Order: sequence, then C-alpha cells, then structure tokens
Amino acid sequence: MPSYGQLLNAINNKWVCKRLCPMSDLDYSIEPLGSHHDLAAFSCGVEQLDTYLQRQARQDSRNDFAVPFALIDKKSGAIAGYYTLSSLHIEMSELPPEITKKLPKYPTAPATLLGRLAVDKKYQGKKLGEMLLMDALYRSLNLSHEIASMAVVVDAKDEKARSFYERYDFIRFPNSPLRLFLPMKTIVKMFE
Ligand SMILES: CC(C)(COP(=O)(O)OP(=O)(O)OC[C@H]1O[C@@H](n2cnc3c(N)ncnc32)[C@H](O)[C@@H]1OP(=O)(O)O)[C@@H](O)C(=O)NCCC(=O)NCCS
Repeated sequence: MPSYGQLLNAINNKWVCKRLCPMSDLDYSIEPLGSHHDLAAFSCGVEQLDTYLQRQARQDSRNDFAVPFALIDKKSGAIAGYYTLSSLHIEMSELPPEITKKLPKYPTAPATLLGRLAVDKKYQGKKLGEMLLMDALYRSLNLSHEIASMAVVVDAKDEKARSFYERYDFIRFPNSPLRLFLPMKTIVKMFE
C-alpha cells in the first residue's frame, strides 16, 4: 500500500493542502471542470471515457447528475485526468453479508458513486491515477459529514481497471464482479 501521508502531500487540493501542505508548490491542481478547460485533446486509451469527458461531462454537471473534477497540468493547462462524483443508493441485499450484518435493516444504503476516473495516456504511470483516487476518497469523506454516505462505489470498466481499485482495498459486490465499494469506515482510517 502507498503511504497516504506522502501522497496527500502531493495533492494540490484546497481541502487537503490547507490541512497538510499549505506551502506546497505543485505541478498539478484538481478543480471542478469548467468551460475554459480544453477537452478535445484528452485521450486515456478507453474511448468511452474520452467521449464521456468530451461530450457528456459538462451536460451531467449542468443537470446535477455528476460533478466532474479535472486534474490540470499547471504548466500546459492540459487536462491530465478526471473523475466524477454522484450520489447513489445501494440495495442492501447486494452487499456481502459480513458487511450488512453490522448495519441497520433498511432496504437501501446511501453511498457515493465514483462514476469515472481516467488519466491521459501521456500522464499515466506517474501516480496521478492514485492521486485522483485519493482526492475523490478524501472529498467523499468530507462530504459524508454533511450528507451521509456509507461507502464509495466504483464501476470498473474491465478486469484491468478492477485490479487498480483492488490495490486500494475496494471490495467486489458478490453478484456484480466489476462493481466494487470501499466502506466509509475504511476511508476514515486511511486519512487518520
Ligand atoms: C487505471 C488508471 C486510472 C491508472 O492511472 P495511472 O496514473 O497510470 O496509475 P498510477 O501511476 O497512479 O498507478 C498507481 C499504482 O497502481 C498500479 N496500477 C496502475 N494501473 C493499474 C491496473 N490497471 N491494475 C493494477 N494496478 C495498476 C501502478 O503500477 C502503481 O503501482 P505502484 O505504486 O506499485 O507503482 C489509468 O491507467 C487509466 O486512466 N486507464 C484508462 C481508464 C481506466 O481504466 N479507468 C479506470 C476506471 S474504469
């Protein structure tokens, strides 16, 4: 597992950096996707994720279906990566019994959906995927203090993407093997 302390020191996120590294001078920033960002050049190797950013992300944002966050290369202004966050409800019956046995007997549970996460091919292999994931988890944790969420859920595109999330202790849904979740209680411990 990575050292989250080291990782957080590399994240230019206003919440994280104010807390941990206010003096940091970093190469990247993470900010809500805006109209000034150039989407056309983004290419992560998965066409569906490129097309989503280029054609759908702003619309989903306008309609309050998802909030896209962009990882910006400060030197060039290019989008090096992005992720999206939304709310969702999980059917309790879809979670593993070892998780639900400790929870109230409601039919559904509130959660946060990390709908998409991608890093441009030019920037892959530099720990930026990890940085985006940690930023998304930290942001979800902070928001869960205001609007309850018991887990962050991801839909991996394929087995390769799934293995990326499993490195960070995401757990498979028993009947949807490409859908994974990380309990908020685990995320709390990651950032203690
Ligand atoms: C998957 C993806 C986000 C990883 O981003 P990245 O910036 O290249 O990854 P990082 O450099 O942050 O990698 C962090 C660690 O995860 C590992 N890793 C990266 N991709 C992995 C994968 N698919 N499976 C398992 N481990 C992976 C790296 O080797 C690295 O390990 P290390 O710390 O031992 O060196 C990126 O390759 C991507 O955007 N791919 C296309 C879209 C995609 O599959 N998105 C996933 C959501 S569906």
